[in-house]
Amino acid sequence: MNTQTEAFLKQDKAGAEAAPASWAEVGKQRPHESAVLHVLGEATYTDDIPELQGTLHAALGLSQKAHAKVHGIDLAEVRKSRGVVAVYTARDIPGTNDCGPIIHDDPIFADGLVQYVGQPLFIVVADTHDNARRAARLAKVEYEELPAILTPREARDAQSFVLPPMHLARGDFKRAFEQAPHRVKGELHVGGQEQFYLEGQISYAIPKEDRGIHLYCSTQHPSEMQHVVAHALGLHSHNIVVECRRMGGGFGGKESQSALWAAAASISAALLKRPVKLRADRDDDMMVTGKRHCFYYEYEIGYDDEGRIMAAKVEMVSRAGYSADLSGPVATRAVCHFDNAYYLSDVDIVAMCGKTHTQSNTAFRGFGGPQGAIAIEYIIDEIARNLGKDALDVRKVNFYGRSDEEGRNVTQYGQKVVDNVIHELVAELEETSEYRRRRAEVQAYNAASPVLKKGLAITPVKFGIAFNLTHLNQAGALVHVYVDGSVLVNHGGTEMGQGINTKVAQVVAHELGLDLSHVRVSATDTSKVANTSATAASTGADLNGKAAQDAARQIRERLTAFAAQTFKVDPSKIEFANNRVYIDGIPEQFPLLVRKAYNARIQLWSDGFYATPGLHWDAASMTGNPFFYFAYGAAVSEVVVDTLTGEWKLLRADALYDAGNSLNPAIDIGQVEGAFIQGMGWLTTEELWWNKAGKLMTHAPSTYKIPGISDCPDEFHVKLFKNRNVSDSIHRSKAVGEPPLLLPFSVFFAIRDAVASVGNYKVNPPLHAPATSEAILNAVDAVRGSAGAA
Ligand code: MTE
Ligand code: MOS
Repeated sequence: MNTQTEAFLKQDKAGAEAAPASWAEVGKQRPHESAVLHVLGEATYTDDIPELQGTLHAALGLSQKAHAKVHGIDLAEVRKSRGVVAVYTARDIPGTNDCGPIIHDDPIFADGLVQYVGQPLFIVVADTHDNARRAARLAKVEYEELPAILTPREARDAQSFVLPPMHLARGDFKRAFEQAPHRVKGELHVGGQEQFYLEGQISYAIPKEDRGIHLYCSTQHPSEMQHVVAHALGLHSHNIVVECRRMGGGFGGKESQSALWAAAASISAALLKRPVKLRADRDDDMMVTGKRHCFYYEYEIGYDDEGRIMAAKVEMVSRAGYSADLSGPVATRAVCHFDNAYYLSDVDIVAMCGKTHTQSNTAFRGFGGPQGAIAIEYIIDEIARNLGKDALDVRKVNFYGRSDEEGRNVTQYGQKVVDNVIHELVAELEETSEYRRRRAEVQAYNAASPVLKKGLAITPVKFGIAFNLTHLNQAGALVHVYVDGSVLVNHGGTEMGQGINTKVAQVVAHELGLDLSHVRVSATDTSKVANTSATAASTGADLNGKAAQDAARQIRERLTAFAAQTFKVDPSKIEFANNRVYIDGIPEQFPLLVRKAYNARIQLWSDGFYATPGLHWDAASMTGNPFFYFAYGAAVSEVVVDTLTGEWKLLRADALYDAGNSLNPAIDIGQVEGAFIQGMGWLTTEELWWNKAGKLMTHAPSTYKIPGISDCPDEFHVKLFKNRNVSDSIHRSKAVGEPPLLLPFSVFFAIRDAVASVGNYKVNPPLHAPATSEAILNAVDAVRGSAGAA
């Protein structure tokens, strides 16, 4: 026995403080781990990494045609341009010319055929970023134009799809529709959305010895970037290391679409054996990369006198763009979220991914879920107006049942809803937002106000958490405890501002009884944790939190066994809390125990792994248990609309969100607020517009309007609903990344409500999304027209 141990055992046990039973690092309001760095401008993004000597800068040469054969590219002027070092086309790619995530229909550089305005044809590498960009415009491309398909409806009519259509049916729609006392048919357009991450796409590729590449990449999916780069270079995954400390936002736009930039930079770096940085200018970023899919819907609904939906049929077509990218999974999620919070007994859903000659659309917060759910909300809004009922009451009669006895608790894809809290949650919000009183006030205001009209709406959210594709629901982590007692965590998730690193650090600190300040999370790195899934589908903290917990627990167990043996106490008498280890009540500083364990040659680091249990999904029948649990929420929005100009303002929003037993309420509330405003932008001011030649004309903030701080309501009440996940998620928390994006449906329907007041609430305004001022004015005119005619 060494002297340290003897001294320890001689400590006065009676005088020692007890381990605080309430000790917890999870569930606390903690600032984002990089908050201070963000504010000081010291947080390192990819473009801030000190450049190696000899670094070159690249830019892409883009197609000017939507659909054309390319008979030749004359690059002579490009090569002669100032500072140009090299120009590469498809022919120069050492490996495979492909960066598609699932189906391999995404060339890195177009070869013989261009399929959208903005498609990359070549890369120019120069001494400076500006020189590369200038040179990229000097190519002379010989095109033979082909007919282009630009909208989802044109794609459907031409049967032009990137994937076969999907179909999910339950019950007997036809019979139920015929028996329903009321029926409604209609159509809806919902626009797409640019991710508008503040940090654009960027990759910085550094050649390493023996055909290695170290790639710094702003990506939600480092492992996928590793695979794409390896294929493009004709190398193995072990040649490529991809690293991402953080992104300045991803929002789904860096899940698959960082691949083009990763591959193009790596190809140049490998061929030149020099570091190459490829950073997209905002206009290029918007011209090249895909966005949220816009959707077009046609629906037929049967319902009863209460507004209960008896039969629902919907056909949805998305604008997939020129290639599949993630359009399949996006459509699947739209199909799985057409129910939103409502039980649909007899339902028939068809989803098509229209192939159009535009950017290849991709993931965006909610991943098709918002597009599925808004259709049913639109339908319920119409049913309510047709019946002269408050839409909230119609929503309530359609909610999923709470139990087996109540029934109505199985989704259209066959998963039983066992955690339904929508009734209680909406009831709470109805009360705290004073919905009924304000409804009466809005009506009274409108009766007395001929031009300005107010609108009010409450909408619910139910959102399935997990990747539909079962095998993606896995994660890994690596936790190091150093001899000084400090802890370094690495996990497969990526930080895009959503706070995953803060949450994972809290989980690890909690397991080891430490304060958060003792735990640091390092950059995501494919050489530390292998074969990771994208940080997406809101599962980042769920999956990586569990994996990190597993790693930390193994270390704690080893330390426990060591302490039990060293001090001859039962392992059950050893507790970790308060930066100490309590050995039968006697506190030992964590670093001191760690040092002893190290001297005794105990492994002080561990890997961890997690795979979400109980998931299965049959893609052919579109049935199964794709989700681990559901997250719920609801919001009430009140707007005022100027019916002469179409201008409007959100006056007040109240949101209640079910984050389960929140890991970090401060971060979760921030996520709800951000998602709310982002979703509001999607449904109101953000309009993507392509001209007749298929060129996206809204490719900069000058023409594409995302919400600003002045668009936030003066009264914005965001609260977390008191709940605990019934599924065994990390500390019984629930995901928060995407579901709150659906909360501002209430803004859209409040605008529609205000417009409806113009026709005394008798006419359904033909308002489509985004409800721009122009769209609002058109809807006002249409309502006036039909109200006058009626
Ligand atoms: N929050 C910030 N600040 N920036 C982002 O890019 N992306 C959203 C959401 N919240 C995003 C964000 C999307 S699309 C997803 S899927 C989740 O965060 C991913 O992170 P999580 O799974 O760790 O919540
Ligand atoms: Mo989020 S759209 O799943 O990256």
